[in-house]
Amino acid sequence: MDEQIINRLKHIYELEKFQIAFYMSQLSSTEDKYYHKAFEKIVETEKKHAVFFAHKLAKADIPIPKVGGTLAEFAGSIVGESLELTGQANTCKMGVSLEKKSLLAYHNLIDELRGEPEVRSKLMEFLLEEEFHTLWLQDYVKRLKQNECQNYGLASDSIEDHPTININMHWL
Ligand SMILES: [Fe+2]
Ligand SMILES: [Fe+2]
Repeated sequence: MDEQIINRLKHIYELEKFQIAFYMSQLSSTEDKYYHKAFEKIVETEKKHAVFFAHKLAKADIPIPKVGGTLAEFAGSIVGESLELTGQANTCKMGVSLEKKSLLAYHNLIDELRGEPEVRSKLMEFLLEEEFHTLWLQDYVKRLKQNECQNYGLASDSIEDHPTININMHWL
């Protein structure tokens, strides 16, 4: 397997593992049933993606990357800053950044696998799922803002009175 493709597979695998850890951290930090269900569904999908890439690497005898560190470290390496992830709106925004990073990784890999229609088709399916996540998260931020405007009768960006995720949890 081409070195470039191997690196892309490893990169996506790492992103998927991080997404799983990030979204799972939400499950334990909220009592909002709807929000919880949404993240549960997202985690389910990200796990399916991670398993696919782990199998793909294993099949080609490539060691599966060991992903370590904390959520905060990885989040910082992705969005390039230290994050204050308090509240559902900020968490969803971080989720959107992660999803966008994944979308780019999927596009790059799909571009390079022109000779493998079956794998491409599977990757497009995953790409669409990441797009659905992105759209849901973006829409949820809008809904939170609308609710806040209705509750307080004014526009505001600060929606801070929601569960705090434990960004320092180890994700492996
Ligand atoms: Fe994913
Ligand atoms: Fe996703």
